[in-house]
Amino acid sequence: MLLYANDVIFVDIYNEWKRSIYAKKGISCEVCHNPQRSMVFKSIYNKNFVLKAVTIRFKIIHINSGNVHAILSLKNSGVGHDFPTYTTPKVILDIGQENFEKEIYQKTVESYIIGWSVSLNLKKQYFDTRLKPFQTAKLIYDRPLVKEAKYLKAWVVVEPESHYVRFLRHF
Ligand code: HEC
Repeated sequence: MLLYANDVIFVDIYNEWKRSIYAKKGISCEVCHNPQRSMVFKSIYNKNFVLKAVTIRFKIIHINSGNVHAILSLKNSGVGHDFPTYTTPKVILDIGQENFEKEIYQKTVESYIIGWSVSLNLKKQYFDTRLKPFQTAKLIYDRPLVKEAKYLKAWVVVEPESHYVRFLRHF
């Protein structure tokens, strides 16, 4: 399946899979997406399906009076092609500091976007940080510690329709 705009390819799942170890091992699309041969195509909307295909780790390197140093990583450990698929979804890694009531201090939030970002008219490509099979994305957090902060929080957001949402807002 290929989609072109201005000669740039925006959907290349088949080739991403073809280049991967999954194709070499004969693990087809159906093995993951439609194991029981049901009519349901498992997708990014299926939280358990996605969670099983990625490995998320959060590691605090150190927290001292002045500074917080931590790493949140996400590995494509089981998606048979680039993750997330094509230009529509985005996956965002976040780390931030919270107060005693578990309210986040917005100015302490650091984010890393995993995705394939293109302009609304599909004419320009901004970045492609998607993960090939077995690649890992890392958010490295190295920030001053807010005095009143009590918790360090790490979270991962999946926006399945990020591109469409931007598109619809625009028009
Ligand atoms: C090893 C398992 C595996 C294989 C093999 C695999 N996929 Fe996937 N696929 C996934 C997982 C897990 C997701 C959900 C995460 C994501 O969107 O990248 C996914 C997502 C997708 C999506 C996005 C659906 C959505 O909701 O946006 C499409 C389309 C897709 N795959 C097509 C294919 C095609 C076509 C093939 C074969 C050429 C294939 N996949 C092979 C695991 C696999």
